Amino acid sequence: MTTNLQAYRGSLLHFLADPAFSDESHPSHDWHEDGLLIVADGKVQAAGDYATLHATLPPNTVVHDYSGKLLMPGFIDTHVHYPQTDMIASPAEGLLPWLETYTFPTERQFEDAAHAANVAEFFLDELLRCGTTTAMVYCTVHPQSVDAFFTASEQRGLRMVAGKVMMDRNCPDFLRDTAESGARDTETLIQRWHKRGRALYAITPRFAPTSTERQLQLAGELAAAYPDTFIQTHVSENEAECAWVRELFPNARSYIDVYDSYGMMRPRAMYGHCIWLNERDRQRMAETQSAAAICPTSNLFLGSGLFDFERADDAGVLLSLATDVGGGTSFSMLQTMNEAYKVARLKGSYLPALRMFYLATLGAARSMQLEGTIGNFAVGAEADFIVVDPQATPLLQRRTARRESLEELLFALALLGDDRAIAATYSAGRQVHVRETT
Ligand code: GUN
Ligand code: ZN
Repeated sequence: MTTNLQAYRGSLLHFLADPAFSDESHPSHDWHEDGLLIVADGKVQAAGDYATLHATLPPNTVVHDYSGKLLMPGFIDTHVHYPQTDMIASPAEGLLPWLETYTFPTERQFEDAAHAANVAEFFLDELLRCGTTTAMVYCTVHPQSVDAFFTASEQRGLRMVAGKVMMDRNCPDFLRDTAESGARDTETLIQRWHKRGRALYAITPRFAPTSTERQLQLAGELAAAYPDTFIQTHVSENEAECAWVRELFPNARSYIDVYDSYGMMRPRAMYGHCIWLNERDRQRMAETQSAAAICPTSNLFLGSGLFDFERADDAGVLLSLATDVGGGTSFSMLQTMNEAYKVARLKGSYLPALRMFYLATLGAARSMQLEGTIGNFAVGAEADFIVVDPQATPLLQRRTARRESLEELLFALALLGDDRAIAATYSAGRQVHVRETT
C-alpha cells in the first residue's frame, strides 16, 4: 500500500511539558518560526524546521504553504454539552434556575433522534470552525442522543469522547432514567461505541444531586468494570448547588467525596468546574489522577465563582480548559483562554499565554491519558491540527505586527481571537474546516 504523505509549512508550535513546571533543561514547547509538519496516513511523521525536514521529503511531495500562519495541535475542549447548543446565551439567576428553566426543556427534545442528529451536525461544524478537534461531550439521558452524536463524529473521522447523561432523581419525569436502566443503557453504549474508530465513551452521571446513591454505585461499578472508559460529571460549581449536596449526602466529607466513595475518582475521570473545593479534595484529585475541566466563560456567565489556579497547581491537579456550552458563552477555546486569564487575575494568579495554549492542547490530552494520541506533534500522534491566522482581523493584524515575542503573539490571539482566527482545521490529516474569507 502506498503511503499518503502530506507536508505543511508554517510557524510550528506544540508542547512537550507544562510551562508552569518546566525550565530550560526541560523545555515546555517546540517552536519553529519556519516549520514543517509531515503527515503520513493521518499520523504525524515529523515536525520541525522547514530547512532540515524539507530535504527528507520524497521528490514531488506537495507542500501546503501556510507561511505567515501558525500550525498547532487542534484544541481539546474537556467539558461541553452538545444538546445545549440551541440554548447558549439563555439568561437565568444562577445554575439551578437555569437548569430548570432552559436546560431540561431543551434536553427533552433529544428524545427525537432526527433532532439529535441535526444538532450534532451543527455542533461539530461549530467545534471545527473554532479549531476544536476533540471534546468531552455530554449527551442527554436518551441513548439515541449518544448514537446520533457518535454517528456524526464517526462520519467526520473525529476523536471524540461522549456519554449518556445518567439522572434518576430531582429532574422532570421526562428526563429520568432509573438506576438500573441508566446503568444498562450505559453498558450497551460502551459496548457499541467505546474504541469504535476514534470514539471513546464517558460514563456520565450528570451531578450528584440528580443521582440516587444506587445510581452512583452502579456508575462506579461500570467505571471499575471498564477501566479505560472515561467518567465525566460536575462538581463544586456553585454555592447553592454545594449546599444542596450537603443536604442530600449528609455523611459525605465533601461534594467530591460523594464521587470518591463510589469509586469514581480515577485516571480518565473529568470533573467540571472544581471551584468550591477544599485542600483535601484537591489532594484526592491529584492522588487519583482525576482531572479538572476549568470552565471560565460558564462560571462568569452563571456567577458560579472563580477557579483557583494557584491552589490547584500547589496540589498538582491535572488541568485543562473547557467551554461548558450552553452554560459557557462561546465555542472558541481562544475566547475561553481570554476569560481564564481574567479569572486568574481576579484570584491574584497569572496565566501566561503559553500555559493557556498548553492547557487547551497537551494539558488536556494528559488529563485524559491520551498523550501520544492527541494534543501534540509527537511522532505517531494523530494529525489533528489547526492553522491559526494572526492576521485574521484588522485589529489582530495590527497588534501581532508589533509583537516582540512568541508569548505576545499567543497572548494577542487568546485575547483578541475567536473562530475568525482559525484558517483551517485538520483531523487525522484530513481538512475538515476551511475558513471562508470575504
Ligand atoms: N450541573 C448539572 N448539570 C449541569 C449543566 O448542564 N451545566 C452546568 N454548567 N452545570 C450543571
Ligand atoms: Zn457542564
